[in-house]
Amino acid sequence: MCGIVGYIGKSAAPSILINGLRRLEYRGYDSAGLAIVEDGKIIVAKAPGKVVSLSDRARDTWPTERFSQVSYGIAHTRWATHGPPTEVNAHPHLDQSGDIALVHNGIIENYRSLRARLEAKGHLFLSETDTEVLSHLIGDRYDGNLFQAVCDALHQVEGTFGIAVISVKEPGKIITARRGSPIVLGIGEGETIIASDAAAILTHTQRVIYLDDNDIAIVTADSIEIRDLHNVPVNREVAELDFDSSAAEKGGFAHFMLKEIHEQPESLRNAIRGRLDFNLGSSVLSGMGTSPRDLAEINRVVLVGCGTSLHSGLIGEYAFEDLADTHAEVQQAAEFRYRNPIISRSDLVIAISQSGETADTLAAVREANQKGAFVMGLCNVVGSTIARETGRGIYLHAGPEISVASTKAFTCQVTVLLMMALKMGRSRRFSRQEGMDFARQIEAIPALVEQVILQNDHIAAVAERYAKNEHAFFIGRGPLYPVALEGALKLKEISYIHAEGYHAAELKHGPIALLENGTLVIALANDIPGKDKTLGNVEECKARGARILGIITAGDHEAAEIMDDVIEIPACHPLVATIPTAVALQLLAYHIANIRGCEIDQPRNLAKSVTVE
Ligand code: F6R
Repeated sequence: MCGIVGYIGKSAAPSILINGLRRLEYRGYDSAGLAIVEDGKIIVAKAPGKVVSLSDRARDTWPTERFSQVSYGIAHTRWATHGPPTEVNAHPHLDQSGDIALVHNGIIENYRSLRARLEAKGHLFLSETDTEVLSHLIGDRYDGNLFQAVCDALHQVEGTFGIAVISVKEPGKIITARRGSPIVLGIGEGETIIASDAAAILTHTQRVIYLDDNDIAIVTADSIEIRDLHNVPVNREVAELDFDSSAAEKGGFAHFMLKEIHEQPESLRNAIRGRLDFNLGSSVLSGMGTSPRDLAEINRVVLVGCGTSLHSGLIGEYAFEDLADTHAEVQQAAEFRYRNPIISRSDLVIAISQSGETADTLAAVREANQKGAFVMGLCNVVGSTIARETGRGIYLHAGPEISVASTKAFTCQVTVLLMMALKMGRSRRFSRQEGMDFARQIEAIPALVEQVILQNDHIAAVAERYAKNEHAFFIGRGPLYPVALEGALKLKEISYIHAEGYHAAELKHGPIALLENGTLVIALANDIPGKDKTLGNVEECKARGARILGIITAGDHEAAEIMDDVIEIPACHPLVATIPTAVALQLLAYHIANIRGCEIDQPRNLAKSVTVE
């Protein structure tokens, strides 16, 4: 989604801003822009499309020799919400006087009424964006103190924002603030970097400060002063980024997605390391912050998330029921606060989010907190808003996920959920021996995934046979049903093939009408309870001319015979089988998208971190 970079220091700001935007490209965007101050004037360069177009535009605007003279500025990648991704709608936006420039992530919900008020005062707007209204509002409030003008304007705003603002009247200063959209400040030697994502900071410094909601900061090259919106100074800790900059490189792979698929054995080992106790037959998840007695008292587990994280929650639902005899249910984070979720103090609400910034999941966390539930975060990004607001939870340790399509975060989410369910199971029905057996199954997950990745060439060959299909149906039962949903999501988002996931039994209740000669059905027919019924459903599809790609357990000749093609998954516990099966589907989606020439790491219209509702 949108990205912000601000720089103030001793180096040439335009190139630092553009490099920072490049580091944020993975988040998904459709136009870019930057603003600097030169000779007492704000100069803006903007371009629709990629950062490379902005870079060309900036070079036309400022000949290279002038680059080095500019020591501060703000920049933005925009993911269009209000108005199409045109040059005029791209950020930064100026105020009426042209003296103030602003970049903004988030949404100003009351922008229409604010705009009408400003128009009545004679303000002229050039763009269709909500952001331009905020820049005019700041200009309207400006009375010689930029900090105060931003404060005053933000008091009138409803919605979410992460912003950075400069003014020609107050050179050498950037004002930045957040509410519901992250801002991180990187503290360098005589330079400060502002960004919506630490990825844009890590080449400069590892020392950062995360702003909290309603914080507003005055940033110069060598100082950071943070206050709240009532002008009261606040203290925020300096944190060290735990981020290996090589994670932001492709490391010889054609795409980040392929790299991240291949990283899974390692990321899964990191997610599991030190968290299994074979003696007790349980898991050690100190972040859960619960004693065995607390766990035994939990009545119900409610899992919330969006997209791929919702799918891992659906697998978690099976795990908590099967391993811990606990009533579990998944709720779409986007719905959670708009229905009347029946939540009590004995409910454990687990918010699942790779980025830890997804607006809907964050809102669900706040609603669950409000209702007094025991809330826990399952996040990948350390220091993210959900991780901080839940206060307790478990980090995935998957490492930075750059590709928009989530892969390694998903398999780590499922693995951590299995460990949580194991821990809870031991406080309930699981014997020590059963716990030990399941802990061994979890320990084996990275090796199982390795065996799937070894089949990469075979999966690429299978992909060749199906890459021209325009429709695909994924079917599965039990814990493989959510994997069918996830397989379909992965395929559609990166290859643009129309793909749907169904419970295998549901197909004949409607969707089977769509099957015709050659339609692709991907059947998750691993040898787990219900397999025979899934094979029966496969026969129904074949009878209607569908071509069947079976994901089956290695050596299952009976299943193999029915399928047109197979990918084999090593035999394992049904809950554990979800993970290597998902990896096979990730590789399949990747190769199909690659054959179709799609832009795999940044699929059209998608954003890595969805910070708007
Ligand atoms: C799909 C994908 C998305 C995310 C969803 C939630 O590959 O990545 O569906 O899973 O936007 O994001 P997080 O997990 O960051 O809350």
